[in-house]
Amino acid sequence: MKILGIETSCDDTGIAVYDNLQGLLVNELYNQKKIHANYGGIIPELASRTHSKKIIFLLDKIFKKINLKKDINLIAYTAGPGLVGSLLVGATFACSLGFSLNIPVLPVNHMEAHLLSPMLDSHLITFPFIGLLVSGKHTQIIAAYKLGKYEILGNSLDDAAGEAFDKISKLLGLKYPNGHELSNLAKKGVKINLKFPRPMKNHSNLNFSFSGLKTFAANIIKNKTLNFQQKANIAKAFEDAVVDILLIKTKRALNQKKWSNLVIAGGVSANKLLRKKSEIMMREVFNGKVFFARPEFCTDNGAMIAYLGSLYYKKKNIFPSLEITVKPKWPLDSLSLL
Ligand code: KG4
Ligand code: ZN
Repeated sequence: MKILGIETSCDDTGIAVYDNLQGLLVNELYNQKKIHANYGGIIPELASRTHSKKIIFLLDKIFKKINLKKDINLIAYTAGPGLVGSLLVGATFACSLGFSLNIPVLPVNHMEAHLLSPMLDSHLITFPFIGLLVSGKHTQIIAAYKLGKYEILGNSLDDAAGEAFDKISKLLGLKYPNGHELSNLAKKGVKINLKFPRPMKNHSNLNFSFSGLKTFAANIIKNKTLNFQQKANIAKAFEDAVVDILLIKTKRALNQKKWSNLVIAGGVSANKLLRKKSEIMMREVFNGKVFFARPEFCTDNGAMIAYLGSLYYKKKNIFPSLEITVKPKWPLDSLSLL
């Protein structure tokens, strides 16, 4: 059984084919970062136009490797959450392709795809688990009970962790989007006599807030001429603070649920410090394990969409429809339960 996955929720155009026996067969991605970098942020209209230009080109590449007409059992596409214009390109494309080839089409949730993306490489992950979803737009702690059934235990009240990384790196003069570059810069930093706050650390709930951290950093950086070492030290202090607070709350969630499996997913899960510190925490405190996707599947991609489609297809619990579905806001706890 082969599933074609289509991802266009934001600024990455991704198409992939996943086979439940052979694994991932093809994975194509067009990354729009360079286009939006000129503007210092994502321009939604430009993102959707670029999706519509690139999607055919990517499908063509897939066509060369796979006979869509004969081989594909299901087309899964990201229906939300995301930018409405971008989502519409993928949804319309998927439904038109399904209609013309007579293949069923399934809308799937982008955040569920992120959350389960580590399963692409590891069959050791089993429900229930605690999920830490850290992307450009979300910072959430999730109790994952089974496919389609999730409880949101904690949420960011303002900026997402990835957004905070992006804003601070912009202030430090790095290119957009730059969580990865900030992290590289932080490696050259040394500990300084400047401790960034750990917002909401003492609140008993599992929510986050990153805007105060951002203001704290902005006040240090703005109107100063900083040399490379000073910038690296600030990057390190900032990264330490973000990783600390993410893990403080995650630890609390694991304790509350008494679970010992953790999945960290979304773009920020590529962060090496977060990976290292969470591995230590899981080993030493919970005698458990933490799972991540491989770095290229931490950020948006078609592989995670195709894989999620395959999980629903296996459950035979899909209601394919040619109705073009987009849900710019689609919380994980509102999926229809299986
Ligand atoms: O999951 P994703 O592609 O976006 C959404 O679906 O929202 O994640 C993108 C985010 C960006 O904010 C980017 O700066 C951040 O992930 N990111 C990182 C790293 N790599 C990507 N943040 C920290 N460290 C990294 N190594
Ligand atoms: Zn994403």
